[in-house]
Amino acid sequence: MKNEGQAVLISSKIQAAADKIWKISLFGPDNYKSAVISHYLRTKNKKLKKAAIEYATDFLKGYLNGDLTSKVAEESLQYLLKFDDDVLFPTPANPKFTFIDLFAGIGGFRIAMQRLQGECVFSSEWDKMAQRTYYANFGEIPFGDITKDETKKWIPNRFDVLCGGFPCQPFSIAGVSKKNSLGRKHGFEDEKQGNLFFHIAEIIEKHRPKAFFLENVKNLMSHDKGNTFKVIKETLVSLDYSFHHKVLNGKHFVPQHRERTFMVGFDKRVFKNKESFEFPALPEPTRKIKDILEPKVETKYTLTDHLWKYLQDYAKKHKEKGNGFGFGLVDKNGISRTMSARYYKDGSEILIPQNNKNPRRLTIREAARLQGYPEHFEINAVSMNQGYKQFGNSVVVPLIEAIGEKLVGALEMKIK
Ligand SMILES: C[S@@+](CC[C@H](N)C(=O)[O-])C[C@H]1O[C@@H](n2cnc3c(N)ncnc32)[C@H](O)[C@@H]1O
Repeated sequence: MKNEGQAVLISSKIQAAADKIWKISLFGPDNYKSAVISHYLRTKNKKLKKAAIEYATDFLKGYLNGDLTSKVAEESLQYLLKFDDDVLFPTPANPKFTFIDLFAGIGGFRIAMQRLQGECVFSSEWDKMAQRTYYANFGEIPFGDITKDETKKWIPNRFDVLCGGFPCQPFSIAGVSKKNSLGRKHGFEDEKQGNLFFHIAEIIEKHRPKAFFLENVKNLMSHDKGNTFKVIKETLVSLDYSFHHKVLNGKHFVPQHRERTFMVGFDKRVFKNKESFEFPALPEPTRKIKDILEPKVETKYTLTDHLWKYLQDYAKKHKEKGNGFGFGLVDKNGISRTMSARYYKDGSEILIPQNNKNPRRLTIREAARLQGYPEHFEINAVSMNQGYKQFGNSVVVPLIEAIGEKLVGALEMKIK
């Protein structure tokens, strides 16, 4: 920048560019450039940083014309990005290990692993609304579709832990038996088409993290008559990783019955047979629904007469037939059912009773608390419906932290 006047001019142009760029083009399944910029503009990895500066320059070209050098571009983008000081959930000052956040959602794993002094070096989540919430809290736009090579190529070569709560899908038996007969030499090419898990396996095989930390639905073990779990376990074991699994309930930390299958494993080539991981013993559940309720709630959360009648009629019909639970009116001194991603539709699985009024659904803040999210987690980057969906899809953060603590403890002997 030649002089102060020009600096002011550039900065005002940048401000205008910022509004446009961030509002229009940063989020989206295929927007690698914004993901690269927000991930790597500050990295110590020279190659990744160079790429981020190039993309930053590209981004700003249309706005700064002749004034643009790489240096100005970098400074401009630094200005556009949230600085670490502003980020609600920043990377720890002296990280002890690195991890990647796959199927990141809104970052439940990330909060827990950062609390354990981990540095997130890559995140992927293709849903652009989840990306918005993620950006609002971590100052980083996740990369999109993890099945694409264009996404995978941005994963740094080395990292310690691969984290991910991946969607549960059946494996095609044909694909699996083919894999068995071909052995490992053809890699995961065939299976990758059909199942997200093989993308995780491929990343593990290529990068060989010291450990993996996976989460899935409770019935993973019985899913597709046990085939899904068998393939997952055998694949990870065949990659030379140990394999621990357990179903644990979030109710030990939050007033919600939420059982999930957790899988943790360590690279046997590094740990030999000396690895010491065990799932944690969990504290007695003490939290009650009344502990998470907001004192004053707007009337928009109260069910309309129409919806309340519909839910009651529906429950009655199904009770007569002897199936289904219908709606779930909670006992404020007890815990709720599992909150699902469809909670936004009618809120029927968790309804809060009210005096002389129809019951109400949870507020978004209450939904966040039900998953153990901290109070300063930003929930307003998206609409209410999206908010319910995002928390319904997420994890019980303190449970992830409790398991993560054991994982990091076992990892510590090998962290350089
Ligand atoms: C069960 S949720 C995980 C939520 C996350 N653990 C959290 O704390 O919010 C699975 C996520 O995977 C994302 N997803 C599914 N397929 C994907 C793909 N091919 N690439 C990237 N993300 C994907 C979904 O959008 C969804 O947010």
